[in-house]
Amino acid sequence: MKIKTFAVERWMDDYEDLAINNIAETCVDSMTVRALLEMTGKTEEIVKKLLDMRLTYGHIPGSPSLRQGIAGLYESLTEDNILVMNGGSAANFMIFYSLIEPGDRVISVNPTYQQLYSIPESFGAKVDILPLKAEDGFLPDLDKLAEMATPDTKMICINNPNNPTGSLMDRDMLEKIVEIARGCGAWLHCDEVYRMLVHEPGMDVPSVADLYDKGISTGSMSKAFSLAGLRVGWIAGCKDFVDKCMIRRDYTTISCGMIDDVLASIGLEYKEKILERNIAIVSNNAAILDSWVESESRISYVKPQGGTTAFIHYDYEIPSRDFCRRLVEMNGTLLVPGECFDMEYYLRIGYAFDPDVLSRGLEGISEFLRQLEQEGL
Ligand SMILES: Cc1ncc(COP(=O)(O)O)c(C=O)c1O
Repeated sequence: MKIKTFAVERWMDDYEDLAINNIAETCVDSMTVRALLEMTGKTEEIVKKLLDMRLTYGHIPGSPSLRQGIAGLYESLTEDNILVMNGGSAANFMIFYSLIEPGDRVISVNPTYQQLYSIPESFGAKVDILPLKAEDGFLPDLDKLAEMATPDTKMICINNPNNPTGSLMDRDMLEKIVEIARGCGAWLHCDEVYRMLVHEPGMDVPSVADLYDKGISTGSMSKAFSLAGLRVGWIAGCKDFVDKCMIRRDYTTISCGMIDDVLASIGLEYKEKILERNIAIVSNNAAILDSWVESESRISYVKPQGGTTAFIHYDYEIPSRDFCRRLVEMNGTLLVPGECFDMEYYLRIGYAFDPDVLSRGLEGISEFLRQLEQEGL
């Protein structure tokens, strides 16, 4: 089996050590264990419970309290619709591993998280890309999708909110995509790891798992809940499909970590507090980013509506990989080149970490742009 290199992950691994201002990250400012436990007011009690915990394999599909906490993020699901995985990345992998066979046809948007097209391709699927364009606000062209969705389409893959663009599909658009998927009998897989991070308060963004019997959602504690170190994510979908994944997961995972399970359950119990913290960070930092974009005449973007990243267009004659490499070497500011998403003259910025790091990083980019101008680029 051949698989393409995961471009973003390789880039981060190669350059993260050089970063002083890391604005390539996609999590919302990660929390410490202490901060998580202090939120509960019961730190001592929980630490005691952890110290006395016997480290068996635990509940194989994930503990009932964790799966109930996850089901609570959906409108119509119960714990039977949830399978806990080692992060959203393992959840995405398991979906393709469970459904995709050589010769299947898959439609995936791009730009997006590379798993959504490179993994099905590695399993022998023919993957057709639906390009997301800046002129459409990086939202899918539904007429084009309807044209592409033929009866032999096995799965349609979308990502909401989108990494890297921060575009957000609302209920109306998701319902239209569900109708297209239903029309051709395809599974609809939506990577929803950024789902709770919506900039407009109160905006209604349902999960595809609540809209369609063949809708599959993947979620994670990493992004909206700032707990990436737990490596807890999940698959949510109809029970038959979740059972099918479980059969394969016995071979790859057995169960997820018991300590991770306890801490993730706490995170979900206190989800309102964490989300309030995180939406404030994201909105505040998005405003910092927005005024910087305004101040740079050769930089433009489609303003992100959700998630933690924005996809910035630059009008300088330099390939994105060279841009990002020279930038990090010059002043330690780390971005992700658009090349990692097959889109040149773009940069992905993660703006949801520390606002001071963000401000210094933006200054670092400006310093580099002045250098490019001196070089006549
Ligand atoms: C869209 C998307 N899906 C899945 C993941 C995987 O996240 P994790 O495995 O930490 O849950 C990421 C990480 O950046 C992501 O951006």
